[in-house]
Amino acid sequence: MALPQTFKAMVVSETAEKMFPREIRERTIGDLPAGELIIEVKYSSLNYKDALSATGNKGVTRKYPHTPGIDAAGVVADSTTKLFNVGDQVTVTGFDLGMNTSGGFAQYISVPALWAAKLPQGLSLKDSMSHGTAGLTAALCIIRLMASGLTKESGEVLVTGATGGVGSVAVAILAKLGFSVVAATGKAGEQEFLKELGAKAIISRDEANDTSGRPLQKPRWAGVVDTVGGNILATALKTTKYGGLVAACGNAMSAELNVNVFPFILRGVSLLGVDSVEIPMRARQMAWSKLGGEWSIDVGKLTTEVSLAELDPKIDEILKGNIRGRVLVNLAK
Ligand SMILES: NC(=O)c1ccc[n+]([C@@H]2O[C@H](COP(=O)([O-])OP(=O)(O)OC[C@H]3O[C@@H](n4cnc5c(N)ncnc54)[C@H](OP(=O)(O)O)[C@@H]3O)[C@@H](O)[C@H]2O)c1
Repeated sequence: MALPQTFKAMVVSETAEKMFPREIRERTIGDLPAGELIIEVKYSSLNYKDALSATGNKGVTRKYPHTPGIDAAGVVADSTTKLFNVGDQVTVTGFDLGMNTSGGFAQYISVPALWAAKLPQGLSLKDSMSHGTAGLTAALCIIRLMASGLTKESGEVLVTGATGGVGSVAVAILAKLGFSVVAATGKAGEQEFLKELGAKAIISRDEANDTSGRPLQKPRWAGVVDTVGGNILATALKTTKYGGLVAACGNAMSAELNVNVFPFILRGVSLLGVDSVEIPMRARQMAWSKLGGEWSIDVGKLTTEVSLAELDPKIDEILKGNIRGRVLVNLAK
């Protein structure tokens, strides 16, 4: 496949005043790091971490100029390994993509072959990025909860940050699987959206954020998918039923967790950590195949599609917690 002279990419620079302006620029394949695969990116997506990278968060991206985008789906345009052929459809999520490796907010990426997964059956390139890292993480949380014993008969399952990327996919999958889903949200105007995704009940972010200081609260949840961390995760632990399971994957509220041991030693609650970045390829592929198969949802109905040129304002919105569902980036637009 012929490689282009130039292609479009979002480039974030760092100024002497520590500002991080973003622009869409022409780049060349020679600007990309050496990698076994050159992939023509058809779709990417916006995740919370991309917004951190795009605004100069050095915990995510150390060096600028940089192209963010932790997700990419496209077609192999050049391969130096037998693992993939030119023309193969692949997804790349996590590892170092978009962190300190030029990412998916560009029409081409260059990556090690071990970062790429063959497009799972049942998903188009577009569907795979409508899910993106957020959908993959939602699936990994649910896999973890179910592997630890959660069933739809166990009782109510709380999803926090429910209108966000991970949260909205988690609500939709859990509802499809027959769980009784309670969505916690800070967006009073999005009750209809959450009900359409399948939430049985909705609680406010305040209700999910206990500030009484009491070590345990009335038990309610059989399971929790927590995407926000902080005191909402602490509250979720204090309000989980005997033997219940809490999957923690995010920190949109805070990275701190101030909780005592009582949920663990008096109620046998388990806190399950979920990572999508370094998780081994086999587990990643299993989650993708669930998303393309028995856990398939109409991901389009929670997705907004933008071009690379339209992406900029969405980056500021996701940092403010104002995005509903997923933002798909169409690199051909
Ligand atoms: N472990 C992993 O591998 C992994 C993978 C993907 C994402 N993550 C993490 O998971 C989190 C969610 O990611 P995402 O892509 O779904 O982000 P997102 O689309 O921005 O969703 C986050 C949601 O959290 C809620 N929220 C935002 N700010 C909040 C605050 N200050 N206090 C309480 N709730 C708040 C909002 O939902 P409501 O308005 O509905 O409350 C928001 O929509 C992020 O922290 C991200 O870094 C981790």
